[in-house]
Amino acid sequence: MTDQTTTARLIDGKAIAAQVVEEVREAVAQRNAQGLPLPGLAVVCVGDDPASAVYVRNKRRTTESTGMKSFSYDLPADCPEKTLLALIDELNANAEVHGILVQLPLPAQINAERVIERIDPKKDVDGFHPYNIGRLVLKMPTLRPCTPYGCMRLLRETGEDLVGKHAVIVGQSNIVGRPMALELLMARCTITVCHSKTYDLPKLIGQADIVVAGIGKPRFVEGGWLKSGAIVLDVGINRLADGKLCGDVDFETASRRASWITPVPGGVGPMTIATLLANTLEAARWQETTHQE
Ligand code: GUN
Repeated sequence: MTDQTTTARLIDGKAIAAQVVEEVREAVAQRNAQGLPLPGLAVVCVGDDPASAVYVRNKRRTTESTGMKSFSYDLPADCPEKTLLALIDELNANAEVHGILVQLPLPAQINAERVIERIDPKKDVDGFHPYNIGRLVLKMPTLRPCTPYGCMRLLRETGEDLVGKHAVIVGQSNIVGRPMALELLMARCTITVCHSKTYDLPKLIGQADIVVAGIGKPRFVEGGWLKSGAIVLDVGINRLADGKLCGDVDFETASRRASWITPVPGGVGPMTIATLLANTLEAARWQETTHQE
């Protein structure tokens, strides 16, 4: 017996992502009917990291399910950087390719920053290019990083007013933590970004109305750290020894404290892929308006 009761409502990322994918599918069909080209997404994977292989397979499959064109490139783990850069140059020049995604992490011999900077910002559907990140910093967003942008949609689906809420982000990565902070700031939250050197993380988490965990440590955030009624977005996808997936938040205890929580799997993960497809559509539109200028 505990003195706590289960209160959290689930943020159903799987269902919300399915809705976004459906919106993209309808937009693609409408473009097709108007004689506009099908948006094309090129997904590049270097090496054979098993987690990356799963993500890339899901991205390619979902792309095809919307009627978009999917271009796949699998390069060996010992691929030289110049080969990857040459492929990006080719994809930048290919009018059928509207979005380019290079799955991270990359093998050690490849400089990821150089690779990201080589992608045409208008085809940067990950939103990682310094141009697109800079636009987000300045509240003039163009293509926006998929996981944080998807998280914002999940937050909006709760119907809660975000203005003035204190959001604590655990993790400072370029993929999640940093752009998440920019998104939440743009939504007029007060933000605290925590990382491995942060003093007294449980105390800061205890002050949060919104917690976003993206650190890659299974069940790291304990329910007992949370303020009662907090909204919890769990970005972690960790595989346990028994093969099961779990997040960076201890779902069991956290769901007894939070008001809203994303499950793992079925929370942020599907939303990231759905947002990638929405970004590819956006990229195609951006490239078309630029051509008409
Ligand atoms: N690796 C983990 N997440 C991502 C992502 O959102 N985009 C890319 N390109 N690689 C990743």
